[in-house]
Amino acid sequence: MSAPAPQSAARRSGYRPPAGELVLTQSDFERISKILHAETGIALPASKSQLVSSRLAKRLRALGLTKFQDYCHVITAPSGAAELGHMIAALTTNVTRFYREMHHFDDLKTNVLPKLIEDAKARKRVRIWSAACSSGEEPYSIAFTLLSQMPDAASYDVKILATDIDPVVVERAKAGIYSPADLEDLPEGISRRFFSPAPGNAAGALVVNEDAKRLVTFKQLNLIRPWPMSGPFQVVFCRNVVIYFDEPTKQELWTRIEQILSPDASLYIGHSERVSGAAERYLAPDGVTTYRKRTGAYP
Ligand SMILES: C[S@@+](CC[C@H](N)C(=O)[O-])C[C@H]1O[C@@H](n2cnc3c(N)ncnc32)[C@H](O)[C@@H]1O
Repeated sequence: MSAPAPQSAARRSGYRPPAGELVLTQSDFERISKILHAETGIALPASKSQLVSSRLAKRLRALGLTKFQDYCHVITAPSGAAELGHMIAALTTNVTRFYREMHHFDDLKTNVLPKLIEDAKARKRVRIWSAACSSGEEPYSIAFTLLSQMPDAASYDVKILATDIDPVVVERAKAGIYSPADLEDLPEGISRRFFSPAPGNAAGALVVNEDAKRLVTFKQLNLIRPWPMSGPFQVVFCRNVVIYFDEPTKQELWTRIEQILSPDASLYIGHSERVSGAAERYLAPDGVTTYRKRTGAYP
């Protein structure tokens, strides 16, 4: 580890925390990182110790604990599953927005949906997966793109699966309620077409319309554990999540995603990510952070 955790630095300077102040020691940080990595695949660099301390302080206070060491006992105890969920929710980064990386939605609309719409109309099954959906902006953007090309999509066997490890964001996504600020960058036509005022909400919140909601199924799912679904998916969005994983976890995930894709399927990944490992043989880059599953002979 390159950077020292707070207490080692504090000790060296002779600093003594005031009574009642929570102190995350280096060994607390290492223990929490190890647990988080084993549960989620997320690798925390030592530079994140301050972030871990501040995000988990609320959880310690909620439980009436004064030491991170005791918190580690709670989350590793047989009865600690619920608190472990709170810890994962506190330590994951859920930043997202509607139509993030617009070029993926342009590619979906222009190069992918025409064939999928044809398939759906021929009564074939069409499946799209948003694999780390956070609070729902990504799968709803997929639904809006689809509905703008196929307004009657719900009459066909077309479904969007949206999953995330964090149950808190999954519930928010299901509710589909957003503040006016969340919709700020949306083209006016999209907000008018796909949102309505949320009933009883004085703050001007808007709710996603039923036709888009109906296309999306939200579920809690940990990408590094076994998946209940077998696919195949014609489109997978797995964006801005593997950046938090270490290389072996990334490579294993790419392989599992590649195996759940149908021939010629499309995979969209985050702007600073790239497919690596064995899956590279089967996923051909085709545009910015866009891959197509290869068919036929592999080089
Ligand atoms: C930065 S958000 C990305 C949201 C969206 N895909 C986007 O690009 O805007 C990363 C999401 O990955 C989720 N996540 C982290 N580890 C995960 C895991 N092991 N399994 C499933 N989701 C995970 C987090 O809860 C978070 O909501």
